[in-house]
Amino acid sequence: MSHSPKNRGQFTSSLGFILASAGSAIGLGNLWKFPYIAGKSGGGIFLVFYLVFVILLGLPIMMSEMAIGRKTQLNAIGAYRKLDKRWSFVGVLGVLCAFVILSYYSVVGGWVLKYIAAYATGGNFGGDTSAYFNNFVSQPWEPVIWHLVFMALCALVVVMGVVKGIEKVSKLMLPALFVLVIVIAVRAVTLPGASEGLKFLFVPNFAAVSSLKDLGNAMVQAMGQVFFSLSLGMGITITYGSYLKKDSNIVKNTGIVVGLDSLIAILAGCAILPAVFAFGFEPSAGAGLVFTTLPAVFADMPLGTLFGLLFFILVLIAAATSAISLLEVVAAYFIDNFHWSRKKATIIMSALMALIGVFASLSMGPLSNIVIGGMNIFDALGFFTDKILMPLSAMFMCIFVGHVWGVDGITEEIETGAKGAFKVKKAFGIILKYIAPVLILVILITGLLPS
Ligand code: PHE
Repeated sequence: MSHSPKNRGQFTSSLGFILASAGSAIGLGNLWKFPYIAGKSGGGIFLVFYLVFVILLGLPIMMSEMAIGRKTQLNAIGAYRKLDKRWSFVGVLGVLCAFVILSYYSVVGGWVLKYIAAYATGGNFGGDTSAYFNNFVSQPWEPVIWHLVFMALCALVVVMGVVKGIEKVSKLMLPALFVLVIVIAVRAVTLPGASEGLKFLFVPNFAAVSSLKDLGNAMVQAMGQVFFSLSLGMGITITYGSYLKKDSNIVKNTGIVVGLDSLIAILAGCAILPAVFAFGFEPSAGAGLVFTTLPAVFADMPLGTLFGLLFFILVLIAAATSAISLLEVVAAYFIDNFHWSRKKATIIMSALMALIGVFASLSMGPLSNIVIGGMNIFDALGFFTDKILMPLSAMFMCIFVGHVWGVDGITEEIETGAKGAFKVKKAFGIILKYIAPVLILVILITGLLPS
């Protein structure tokens, strides 16, 4: 179907694009997953694996998605269709993945809003942060309402458009995110006993990877984390890349976005782990870390209510900028393909995702008896996206770019606006054609094995 590029919008500068893309990449994965799995899977050794996979998977895949988007100037599905009709399904996987992720990501976003409200009004969790959290999420109404508020806020930004909404908000929020993570990290590393946390994150722990099984596990964890953290395989960078000017340098943009994401992951580790260790708590990953352990840490910390508030504002920025990118992926498809207005596409799609999110939220309370593959609805949605859709879509993207569109084709697009900056074409081709698909297949298979 035809489209009119005029109405699509375009980032006004590479900086706007970079901040929006970094906003998408920097999310809950950086804050609640990276610090713990890095420490647990070998500390400094894990960091080396992470870096290797950032180079082997993160950079080439993100660069490819950016080039696909800019070349076609279309949403994720339209982009594949334009390059080769038979491969449209890869775009479909991506858009579907974004749709499903946002439905439950927004539920977590709602929890973050609730905690901001709780800290802003004194931060009293009644002494038992775990009971407080479990009680909150299992209620039928309150978490649903916060989820709807979070989704509505994201929709508001997306309705405002690429420049006035996404770019503007990213330019405001990303610098704030930086300041917040640094302030909290400085507070954390200056606590007495903080060094244990830094050791956990940075010192190579050979014992954690001494068996072949642990070593393999650590590598697969590192690969999976690179993927999730850079928001690969769901059309985000295709969509944002489609709003990129032709003279923007794709090589440089990718390097900066990937660098910022890794930097924030490390800084998040410095903000979280030293505080957790200093107050004698056990580190962990996921909702338990953010909503149970850290509030207990803040309760013990001087000025803890203030730091708790700052921390949850940080989490909100991270989650919201990621959620906005997911919504944009879905909305862009309906705008391009069905010529819906931006407002109509955003409202209808966010309402549908919000509806699914309601079930995800209720699955921790009234609907907890609904079990899919041994998981409640919330966890099942996460499994479906993280373990199946994301790797599948990214794997097919690599195969498509490497073997169908071809390394020459994509290189030409990359070099538009980046004359002479792309020096590793041959290695890039080998990675996309052979190495990345095989590594992603490993992620896919290990993700489906019973743990
Ligand atoms: N990259 C984000 C993070 O690190 C998560 C995310 C995944 C966001 C997929 C959008 C899409 O948390």
